[in-house]
Amino acid sequence: MAYVHPVVGALALALLVYVAVLGLRLRQSIPRRAEVAARHARLAPWVYGLTLAMWAAGVLSTWALRADLELASSRHFQSGTLLAILLSGSAITARAMQRGNRRARELHPWLGAAATLLAAAQFATGLRITP
Ligand code: HEM
Ligand code: HEM
Repeated sequence: MAYVHPVVGALALALLVYVAVLGLRLRQSIPRRAEVAARHARLAPWVYGLTLAMWAAGVLSTWALRADLELASSRHFQSGTLLAILLSGSAITARAMQRGNRRARELHPWLGAAATLLAAAQFATGLRITP
């Protein structure tokens, strides 16, 4: 059971990278931009939800299954919390951007990219506490 979180978590991070690649392509002139934008906008909320679910699952898993770990004291907890906060910022600015907020359109990719860079740290710190 303790492996459920790491495995699904790794899947969530891989999806995040894919969504970020789609997003970053939107800033270049590409053919069929509307299609890429639609795929990014459709997948991204799922990745966001999955990330929040993984945060909760990680805490639950640590609390219930890992007597050897102290809750909320790992680097993995810190990077996971920051990742969830940055991605929340990206999700909020995505909404504002759709209502025409130009500042949000500037901020949205930076928050998303920062969260995606943290994915590497999340994976590395996760491996270190994997049983
Ligand atoms: C969306 C990605 C992820 C998020 C948001 C996340 C978040 C968390 C959080 C908040 C905890 C609780 C830590 C504590 O209380 O100190 C945790 C536990 C843990 N995480 Fe992650 N994590 C993610 C992905 C991963 C990945 C990819 C791995 C493995 C490579 C991993 C391995 C672990 C392990 C081993 C634990 C201890 C609980 C257990 O054994 O199931 N996590 N995670
Ligand atoms: C929290 C998850 C995310 C949500 C809900 C989200 C949502 C959206 C939406 C709805 C759009 C507008 C698409 C359109 O033009 O129709 C968009 C655009 C964009 N997103 Fe995301 N996104 C998320 C994460 C990311 C990430 C991780 C990146 C990585 C850098 C990113 C980069 C971009 C870029 C560059 C654009 C194009 C902005 C423009 O120039 O119009 N997004 N996003």
